[in-house]
Amino acid sequence: MKKKILITGGAGYIGSHTAVALFEAGFEPVVIDDFSNSDKSAVRGIEKIVGQEVKLYEGDCNDVKLMEEIFSTEGIAGVIHFAAYKAVGESTEHPLKYYKNNVGSLLVLLETMRKFEVGDIVFSSSCTVYGQPDENPVKESTPRKEAESPYGNTKKVCEDILNDYVKSKAPVRVIALRYFNPVGAHPSSAIGELPLGVPNNLVPFVTQTGAGLREQLTVFGDDYDTSDGTCIRDYIHVVDLAEAHVKSIQHLADKPATYFDLFNLGTGEGNTVLEVVKTFEKVSGESLKYKIGPRRSGDIEKVWANTDKAEQVLGWRSRLNLEDALRDSWNWQLSLKEKEKMS
Ligand SMILES: NC(=O)c1ccc[n+]([C@@H]2O[C@H](COP(=O)([O-])OP(=O)(O)OC[C@H]3O[C@@H](n4cnc5c(N)ncnc54)[C@H](O)[C@@H]3O)[C@@H](O)[C@H]2O)c1
Repeated sequence: MKKKILITGGAGYIGSHTAVALFEAGFEPVVIDDFSNSDKSAVRGIEKIVGQEVKLYEGDCNDVKLMEEIFSTEGIAGVIHFAAYKAVGESTEHPLKYYKNNVGSLLVLLETMRKFEVGDIVFSSSCTVYGQPDENPVKESTPRKEAESPYGNTKKVCEDILNDYVKSKAPVRVIALRYFNPVGAHPSSAIGELPLGVPNNLVPFVTQTGAGLREQLTVFGDDYDTSDGTCIRDYIHVVDLAEAHVKSIQHLADKPATYFDLFNLGTGEGNTVLEVVKTFEKVSGESLKYKIGPRRSGDIEKVWANTDKAEQVLGWRSRLNLEDALRDSWNWQLSLKEKEKMS
């Protein structure tokens, strides 16, 4: 019998790639998504890649009745909790919406897991919890900083909830994964990042500009203390990221009944915004129109990961580089254009 893993937010960017990785590793993913920031085409994309049907529940994972129905029907063995709102700017305008969804859904999930005696959970956290670290690369032991936004704070609060719950000796085994900057798409171009409206992240903005959907990219500030003055991030291919979730679920299986650990997921390398632009131009053959604008408030100057712990404990490290990621993102963008032409 294949182990069933519930993926909340499984139609989203990282969730859909993780569903593919779980299928490929012999698990049976069960997806719940309310499609507040995704589209059913992602579920069809997963099915196209793996050649199997995805068990899908359409609904809100804050809905206790629906969650109980899923746990009682499916015989869930573990959970990967992606579902959350993630727009930093919007979280500043609507903090309660963010606390309600991001923190509320974790509480509903933990209570449902307890009721149905399911112990294993992998939680999507973020490098945002480090703020601007005093030193790079950041280790898991690097102190967290005060959050720059309500969104960032929901990640800190959720990590604390999980930690406190484990400290109470609850029968729960937790891994929190601190993602750096997820980029790229599945090499098949069947799934990828599907931002609704104007993208908040750099790479979809770059590929949409390359495809002529946006007039030009604005680089926010070129007077930072970095090699070319633009901000540095650690860009991790989403396919690598997805594999780390499989490793995490596998790692939990032989741990004691009460367990907590957290890991950085990045490449261990930082790239500036202008390096991303140049790499995109190289892999796409397009020249990208961009201008330098003022700094954007709340932006961190530089952050990249030390990933030794994930390598030593989970046996995971990233395999794909920035070129791979931007090539896959570009092919994904081109495939969206093709689909649009056909519809
Ligand atoms: N993409 C990033 O840059 C990044 C970085 C760090 C952490 N994260 C975290 O990783 C997780 C996944 O991010 P993503 O980039 O795949 O985002 P995404 O928006 O593409 O995916 C989240 C999915 O959850 C769904 N969802 C939201 N609230 C829900 C609810 N209450 N019930 C059911 N479904 C719900 C959305 O419709 C969406 O499909 C999030 O928790 C995010 O905060 C993302």
